[in-house]
Amino acid sequence: MKPVAKKIAGYIRYGVAGSVIVAAWGLGLTGVSNASGTYSAGKATTAEAAMYREECGACHVAYPAGLLPAASWSTIMATLDDHFGENAEVSAESAARITAYLTDNAGKPGHGMLKRIKGDAPLRITELPYFVRKHDEVPERMVSGNEEVGSFSNCNACHQRAESGDFDEDSVRIPGYGRWDD
Ligand code: HEC
Ligand code: HEC
Repeated sequence: MKPVAKKIAGYIRYGVAGSVIVAAWGLGLTGVSNASGTYSAGKATTAEAAMYREECGACHVAYPAGLLPAASWSTIMATLDDHFGENAEVSAESAARITAYLTDNAGKPGHGMLKRIKGDAPLRITELPYFVRKHDEVPERMVSGNEEVGSFSNCNACHQRAESGDFDEDSVRIPGYGRWDD
């Protein structure tokens, strides 16, 4: 982990999620896109997947590749010097391999989380129409007003198995609030 990334990772809390994620990856589990909130995290055991988790999991969870279309990942990877206000640049070789990994395992526009996405390339998962609709009942005090969450971008604060692509609402635990009942 690079020093700058370490510093930022330091103020994002992972809680117990870390050990669960490590266990899931250890088994080489891959998410399969279906109706119950599980999304493809790609092939978990390749060198590219490991590189992705290492480089892109330093400041936030390594988002499952299936959550954005290939065009989004290409744009994100081409603009890492200005990444949501941070510099997240990696070496040219790592960038090429991570881009290949993400675009190979990207989501298909029109399906799952990308239901209303057609030709466009949104840069945020948290701005996808499907995402907004699924979270519109979660109050601010549980997110930006919750120091253990901070923002919706911090998926794994509430979805403990986020990195493996499991977002099933039955396994949501909001720090300080617990299970979600709607
Ligand atoms: C130096 C820290 C840092 C590193 C390293 C980093 N990011 Fe980020 N990333 C951020 C920040 C900060 C945000 C915005 C989070 C927020 O709004 O709360 C973000 C947001 C994102 C989002 C949008 C999340 C949303 O809100 O839907 C994606 C996608 C993303 N990063 C992908 C990547 C990829 C791919 C890599 C690896 C090449 C990477 N990030 C590495 C800091 C980083
Ligand atoms: C503050 C806690 C919180 C954060 C952070 C959060 N979510 Fe959620 N998420 C929820 C809750 C609560 C639900 C269930 C909402 C409902 O059913 O009304 C949910 C539901 C979902 C669902 C639908 C699951 C299903 O069973 O249909 C998906 C997919 C999802 N979230 C993805 C994400 C992703 C991806 C991120 C990060 C980019 C994220 N969430 C961040 C709390 C959170």
